[in-house]
Amino acid sequence: MPEQKKLLKALAGKSQKVPPVWIMRQAGRYLPEYRAVRQNAGGFLDLCYNPDFATEVTLQPIRRFGFDAAILFADILLLPQALGMTLWFETGEGPRLEPVTNMAEINRLKPVDAIHETLAPVYETVKRLSADLPDETALIGFAGAPWTVATYMVAGRGTPDQGPARRMMYQSPADFQALIDLVTDATIEYLAKQVEAGAEVVKLFDSWAGALSGTAFEQYALKPAVKIATELKKRFPALKFIAFPRGVGGGYATFADAGVFDGLALDSAVPAQWARDNLQNKLAVQGNLDPMHMVTGGDMLVSETRRLLDILGDGPYIFNLGHGITPDGKPENIEKMLKVIRG
Ligand code: CP3
Repeated sequence: MPEQKKLLKALAGKSQKVPPVWIMRQAGRYLPEYRAVRQNAGGFLDLCYNPDFATEVTLQPIRRFGFDAAILFADILLLPQALGMTLWFETGEGPRLEPVTNMAEINRLKPVDAIHETLAPVYETVKRLSADLPDETALIGFAGAPWTVATYMVAGRGTPDQGPARRMMYQSPADFQALIDLVTDATIEYLAKQVEAGAEVVKLFDSWAGALSGTAFEQYALKPAVKIATELKKRFPALKFIAFPRGVGGGYATFADAGVFDGLALDSAVPAQWARDNLQNKLAVQGNLDPMHMVTGGDMLVSETRRLLDILGDGPYIFNLGHGITPDGKPENIEKMLKVIRG
């Protein structure tokens, strides 16, 4: 019975004595079994595009920890690749793309309909997960939010301040808007296919939303997220939608007021009491333990986990970190955290 899944209950606005828990980047390098599969696969992208490997690494943290949700193993940068951009990962550094910086280059990208050819293996992974997961485990699909994806498309790599995209959005607003519109439309079709393949929840990762200010926040973070959620819910009325506008501070209240999201993922800087008083009366909140506790463990891990449960546990709540677990996170600290949450 899907409505019995703890994650879906929380996203339907219900509070639970023991909240559902999963963690961002739960399939990843901190797990020895992930590193073993990754070695076999070759590169990270080979892992993403091989349904056997991608299904296996998605299931690893479910088997080990019994998390209440599995998140599809893929990457937010597969979408620009499906739009025709060249993508590779420099070992030890991160993603690289051939940048797109003006209208002529945007016009050379593929049309939205063409993305499914590249992304078909991802949909196959979702389909297999949907069949293989335990009955109580919810399946989360995801995509990058248009702004965050565009920061990589324009710079061709990760940047400390998202400078290239911020420069383009002020200097060439029409070109930049065309890029955001293309990614927004492609994201809707990408997520729709994930839902058709069995994703019950989708999460939109706007990891760099905190770099936006003033009208740019509304134009490039809020508006595209609302459009994506509204269109998907029109097509799939039962779908639950989590937004993650990381780093937006008080902008979280603007997201809550939009009325279309079921959950908001909080970064670690959002005060829990503020989230309880200003967000949790409108939707479910998810978060927001500092991922560093997964490295350091000890009494602070226990007391900070308890603190979050005390403050947020009476409303609709999903326990998680404020960002992804890092490669030096320790599996035994996850066990310790789970013991506090589940008793
Ligand atoms: O959470 C999960 O377990 C699902 C899988 C997932 C990955 N990336 C796998 C991954 C998800 C949801 C993402 C999202 C993602 N990818 C984001 C948004 C979330 C966030 O963390 O802010 C971003 C910005 C990216 C882009 C990206 N992918 C970068 C910048 C990097 C390099 C940095 C790094 O951690 O190495 C990646 C690589 C990546 N994506 C890895 C994983 C497991 C590491 C790849 C490896 O095995 O070497």
